Order: sequence, then C-alpha cells, then structure tokens
Amino acid sequence: MRTIDWNDESDSIMLIDQTLLPAEYKVIECKTLAALCEAIMSLRVRGAPALGAAGGYGMALAARLSSAKDMDGLLKDMQIAARAIKGTRPTAVNLAWGVDRVLHAINDAYDLKGIKNTALSEAKMMADEDVTKNRKMGEFGAKLLEDGDVVLTHCNAGRMACVDWGTALGVIRSAVEDGKQIQVVACETRPLNQGSRITAWELMQDNIPVTLIADSMSGHLMRKGVINKVIVGADRITEDVVFNKIGTYTHSVLAKEHGIPFYVAAPLSTFDLEGWEESVTIELRDENELRFCNGKIMAPKDVKVYNPAFDATPMENITGLITERGIYYPPFLLDELFI
Ligand code: MRU
Repeated sequence: MRTIDWNDESDSIMLIDQTLLPAEYKVIECKTLAALCEAIMSLRVRGAPALGAAGGYGMALAARLSSAKDMDGLLKDMQIAARAIKGTRPTAVNLAWGVDRVLHAINDAYDLKGIKNTALSEAKMMADEDVTKNRKMGEFGAKLLEDGDVVLTHCNAGRMACVDWGTALGVIRSAVEDGKQIQVVACETRPLNQGSRITAWELMQDNIPVTLIADSMSGHLMRKGVINKVIVGADRITEDVVFNKIGTYTHSVLAKEHGIPFYVAAPLSTFDLEGWEESVTIELRDENELRFCNGKIMAPKDVKVYNPAFDATPMENITGLITERGIYYPPFLLDELFI
C-alpha cells in the first residue's frame, strides 16, 4: 500500500507505522485528529512529502469529524484542526502546505457537504500528485546518474517519506529502472536511524544494492574515492539554505572538499521562498532519543543533551536541485521556479 492513504469505508487515515520498521510492517488507522497528531510527532508517519499528505488528509478528517451544524462552525473547527496539525512539527514546510492547500480549496464550497467533500477530494488529489511529481523528479534526476555510480544518501527520502516512489531514492529507483547499475551507501542517521531502519529496508525490498554505514564514516569513504555522488531529500528549501535531516550539512561539506556532486531532490511544495535560515524553527526532539537506543541506555542518564532534528546546508554546497520541473543549477534563482 501507499505510505499514507484514506480509507473510504471507515472515513479514516491509514498509514504504515514507520517506528516499527524493519522488524514489523504494520498498518495503523487514525480515526481522530489526536491519533494523527500523535503519529506525526512520534514519526509513525514522517518525511516531508508524506507529512504534506498527512496535513491534507488530517484536514479532510477534521471536516468529517466536525459536528458543526453551519458553515461558520465547520470552518472554525477546521481552523482549530489546522493549528493543531501545523503545531506537531515545525521544520518540514510540506505539513503546513498540505493543511493550507485544503483550507484554500474549501473556499469554493458553499455548504457543509461541499466543504467536507472538497476537503477530501483535495487531499486525495495532493496524494496522487505526490506520486506523479516523484516520478517526474525521478525521470529528470536519473539522467544525472551513470551506470556504476555509488551514491551516498542520508536519512530516508524514499517511498516511506512520500506517498510513494520517493524523492532522493525515487531518482535512484528511476535510474535502476532505466537499466543502470547503482549502488547506494545509506547513512544510518542517528538518533532515530531512518537510514538503517527504513532506507536500507526499502532498497533491499527492491533489490537495489545498499551498504549501511554509520554517519561518521562518510568522510572516510569519500576520501577513498568510493562515493561518486550524494543525493538527499529536503524538509524546507529557503533562498539561502536547504533544511534536511541532521548530518546532511556535514556530508555536504565533505562532498565539496572531495569534489563530489551533491544533489537535493525535492518537490516545489518543499520550497519556502518567504523564509530564510534564521526564520525557520529547527525542531528539537526529546533528549532521551540520544540517551537511549532501542530502549537501552547509551549515556549517563542525566547527561546534558542537544538533539536538533535538522540542519541547514548552504546553497554554495549544492550542485543541483532536482524538482518535478527539472534540475536547477547555481545561481539558484528560486523565484524562477514558480513562474
Ligand atoms: O524527521 P524525519 O524522519 O521526518 O526527517 C525526514 C528527512 O529529513 C528527509 O530527508 C526529508 O523529509 C526528505 S523526504 C523525501
């Protein structure tokens, strides 16, 4: 199934619980907004484009669940839901984008039923579009990869981070579909191991060769000449930086030092042209994510911890931005992307 989907029979959101991967593949049902918000905060559903879909479906769910008897009441309930959903995670702009797109679409509806139906059809359309956009990104991005390439990626920017196919991993999947032999080096992505738990699992499911490394090993492999290219996804792209999973910046500096192309694959819904590095809140996560690993204590239990979920990579470290409209190279005149 898709990473996240709508269940027409029970009017609920179905999603693959990514916290359990790879040990268990379990689909959970979110019947309430509280369940969806919990799923987002605990990363059962995660990755910028999947969060965009979660935002859209969350608004559809809020509309269905509202018991308001008039339009004003329903719109008020949806505004409350919008604030709750947007408040779950601050960095990936797609989440707010998905919520706002549904809010915008319902402006055209003229009665209660119309609002509820429009909210759901817009959310479904966004999910379908996500798959099409990833395929398009894959088509463009695959041209950058050559037969025999060894590509380093960080975190999970695959089908589990999207509705399907993936951004960075989508590019790799498309290149493999074109008949190219690509090997992937997946960084484990501490502290929550999206690379080892999800990227390695996803690629092995598709029989794409993958080697797992600890995050600190990328420089060693780049220096040895093992890595040809780096492709990562993004959580938010502003005029000056790309926000992505913590550790991305370090790989970008190393890639630049070693003359290795560093690409970012992301749909236009990840771009925030009104923002800049200092205007964006980087999510700080629970300190125990670092003190513990899989329930086992890995540090003195009272040690002071700093646990940002994302970092910012400056544009000068980026070789190209792969989008559903094509590949963009420096100088990145991002306004032109939206013309
Ligand atoms: O905290 P997460 O797992 O939601 O972080 C996800 C990432 O940083 C991904 O690299 C990013 O969302 C790109 S997904 C196509």
